[in-house]
Amino acid sequence: MDTAYDPIAAAPPGFFAEEVLSVHHWTGSLFSFTCTRDPALRFTSGQFAMIGLVVNGKPLVRAYSMVSPAWEETLEFLSIKVQDGPLTSRLQHIQVGEKVLIGRKPVGTLIPDNLLPGRNLWFLATGTGIAPFMSLIRDPEVYERYDRVILAHTVREVKELAYRDYIIGALRDDELLGEFVREKLVYLPAVTREPFPVQGRITARLETGAAEREAGVEPLDPSKDRVMICGSEAMNADCKALLEARGFVEGNNSEPGTFVVEKAFVTK
Ligand code: A2P
Repeated sequence: MDTAYDPIAAAPPGFFAEEVLSVHHWTGSLFSFTCTRDPALRFTSGQFAMIGLVVNGKPLVRAYSMVSPAWEETLEFLSIKVQDGPLTSRLQHIQVGEKVLIGRKPVGTLIPDNLLPGRNLWFLATGTGIAPFMSLIRDPEVYERYDRVILAHTVREVKELAYRDYIIGALRDDELLGEFVREKLVYLPAVTREPFPVQGRITARLETGAAEREAGVEPLDPSKDRVMICGSEAMNADCKALLEARGFVEGNNSEPGTFVVEKAFVTK
């Protein structure tokens, strides 16, 4: 038997061993999977956990945001595939029925309590940074706190717009969430390196006011609007600078603010 990959008979301390239920390959470098959820796993929509495999007898894990909302019975994660990445080179080949490790203590700053209430809630995501927002756009609490929820997802190529069909399709018809989604969710997909109805970086589109026009909402206002950011370090830094220049104040787990930020984990 191959000793490099352990089928995780018993979970190591600090982890649950969960069974993979489905795997979806979005592109050659992007995939997602769902797995069972231990009833003892508690988290808030928008948080992340350590996820991985047992390799050579030891846990090999990276931070992954939950794509699934807190109320869902199963878990979902979105990942890039890095061919020489220690974890994702293996995780991308995961099959239904195999086991994955799920850390017992999810954490993170992209949670509703870290923001003050307000008018519009903007989710600014690039690439796999959409993951925590897929969780949050399925949490009724988010819709109860804001008039509009704007999910601005920007990627290089159209095929990287993961969950697009779901957001504009099945989610709108969802029995529990459909009404909130139809009334309050504005989905704003954009592409930077191919033709697409909305093109350009979110930073550039916020600078010119194009993003608000595309979303059909009032210009960003720190006295009314709230923002969550999740992308690469450069994208996070640029968005943070843009917001701070307009008077937004960063919130955290001890004090709510008018924006919060977290890195979209590039998990090698
Ligand atoms: P661009 O194609 O102009 O680089 P990446 O895969 O590099 O993380 O990029 C994902 C998306 O984020 C791309 O659309 C990319 O645009 C955009 N992006 C990259 N860096 C920044 C940044 N500093 N600010 C805003 N958007 C960014």
